[in-house]
Parts: sequence; structure tokens; C-alpha cells
Amino acid sequence: MTDRITIRRPDDWHVHLRDGAMLEAVARHTARQFARAIIMPNLTPPVTDAAAAVAYRDRILAALPADTGFTPLMTCYLTDAADPQAIADGHAAGVFTACKLYPAHATTNSAHGVTDIFALAPVLERMQAIGMPLLIHGEVTDRTIDIFDREAVFIDRILVKLVREFPALRIVLEHITTAEAADFVTAAPATVAATITPQHLIINRNAIFDGGLRPHAYCLPVAKRERHRLAVRAAAVSGSAKFFLGTDSAPHVVGAKESGCGCAGIFNAPFALESYLTVFEEEDALDRFEGFASENGAHFYGLPLNDGKVTLERRPVIVPERIGDGDTAVVPFHAGETLGWRLVD
Ligand code: DOR
Ligand code: ZN
Repeated sequence: MTDRITIRRPDDWHVHLRDGAMLEAVARHTARQFARAIIMPNLTPPVTDAAAAVAYRDRILAALPADTGFTPLMTCYLTDAADPQAIADGHAAGVFTACKLYPAHATTNSAHGVTDIFALAPVLERMQAIGMPLLIHGEVTDRTIDIFDREAVFIDRILVKLVREFPALRIVLEHITTAEAADFVTAAPATVAATITPQHLIINRNAIFDGGLRPHAYCLPVAKRERHRLAVRAAAVSGSAKFFLGTDSAPHVVGAKESGCGCAGIFNAPFALESYLTVFEEEDALDRFEGFASENGAHFYGLPLNDGKVTLERRPVIVPERIGDGDTAVVPFHAGETLGWRLVD
């Protein structure tokens, strides 16, 4: 039995680091696990221009010790008013790595999101021309569509057409949760990829209702049926370069989760690698973990692989019931459970 596994230092291709006190509290967890991360722009107000992204990047770096070597990769939050030239300038200046598309009202802080994706054609054409990736929260917001079907319907109604009309646009379908998404991405051209979170590999929708309402298992897209979890797992461990690690770690203070209207988001940053590795071991795919965690994403984004290594060892680690206190008290994914692997510092 393998008791230690050493891989190239990995990256997180989708994370929410928040701002203010929460940023100060959570950034170190991501920087401890990952060399780089794609930083989500859904702050209040959202990060829609390069000046805001530079200021946010500075706040992220200021929240970390100077020697972490962590690189935040910034994203531009697309609105109906997105300007192709400003986005291209931000990309050329090395500020924006990608653009994030939230359909308006799809999730946390998406009220300024896009109401008609195809009306943004001039932006998408420009991104396609300069090779700038488009990161998509792939859910329709139509209230007549069942919440468990919103990802599959987004693929049918929007994504098929988007890929057809922008054949060279690099698209990441973020945090996939369904067999339909895994199948779509697998069959799509090489311009289309997907990130996968630990929670969507580990829980199905029963977790949200397990003996009572479980707000800490609620995120968006919401966890789906068991057959979808199995399909997403198969995609993650398939060895296909189209699938890569993106935690979607999304901390909310405990009171905002345990509420009459609890926020969507699972905070998984402190034990993300341990969580993913458990899945790869269960699937007898330890040899594919490095590709998923450390190579596929960088290749898709056209970025160099990281130098350096990280090691995980087989050792029980008890995940705390709660991390932080006051304004930054959060309940982590796997709270109270014992994981079988531990990242060696
Ligand atoms: O569960 C989620 N939380 N899904 C998202 O898309 C946004 C995120 C957040 O920002 O809390
Ligand atoms: Zn997210």
C-alpha cells in the first residue's frame, strides 16, 4: 500500500477568497495547499475592472505571509455592460487571467451578472481572438426549471450554441455536477474543459437532507443524484486532460449558513487535497491524481507547470467542527470526520 504520495505542486482553478476579515482568515489555507488559484470576482461590489482586480490582488497578497510564493490569478466579473477593449487591456496587462460569467441571479453575488449571454458577443469574440478563457457558472435561472435540472438545461439551451458560435473560445464549465456535464465536456472539442469540486465527488443530494436540513452541504450548483456523483467521479479519474481541480471553496460565516435562508457555499480549502486524494484512492486512480491536480489545468490555461512538490502521507487527520471565530467562524467540509491523508508541511 502506498503510504506517501508526492506530486508537483498543484493549483486551485476556482476559489472564493472573499474580502476583509474573511479573506484574512481563509487565504492561508488556499496558499498552503496550492501554488496558484483562480480567484472568483463575486465580491460586493463585484470585480469588474482591472483597477479593482489589482487592488484585490494586493489585498490577497497582504493577507498572506510574504514567503508563501502563492500567485492569485484574477478574473473579471462579466456584466451586461462588459467592455471588450477594457477586458483585452486587462488581459494584456497581466491583470485578468480569465472572465467569469454568472448568469444574473444564479448564485451568491450574481445580481450584476449577465442577462443575455449572446448579447455579449463582442466581448466573447474578443476573448476568443486573444485566447482568454471564459469561466462559466453553468445553470439557467428560469424559475420554472427544477433546481436539480438547471445545469443540464444550461448545456442544452446555452452551452451547445456557445461552443458552436465561438469555436475557438476557451471555455471552462465550472464545478460540474451532472452526468450530462461530464458527457458534454468529454465529447466537446479540446477548447472545452471543466473543473470539479471535492464535494461533488463525495456527496450526493441526500447529504443535504440527512436526518434533517444540513446547510453545510448546500452549495450551487446543488449536489445531485448518486448516478451523477458517480459520473463526475469517473470523469475526474478518467485521465482526460479536460478535467481538473477547482475547489469552489466558498466560506460563509456560520450564522449565514445556519439560517432561515442559508447561503450557498462549502468551505473546503483547509483539507482540499486530502479530500480529493481520498477519492482518487477509492477509485484506484492514484496515478492520475497529479494530472488532475497539477497539470491539466495549467495546460488548459497555457500556463507553465509549477516547480516544487507537495507530499501527502497516510495519517489520520480529524477535521475540526469549526474553524475561526466571530465574524470568520466557518464550518469546513468534512467537519468532525477523520480523513486518511494529511498534507505534509
Ligand atoms: O455554492 C456556491 N457558493 N456557489 C457559487 O456559485 C458561489 C459561491 C459563493 O460565492 O458563495
Ligand atoms: Zn464558485
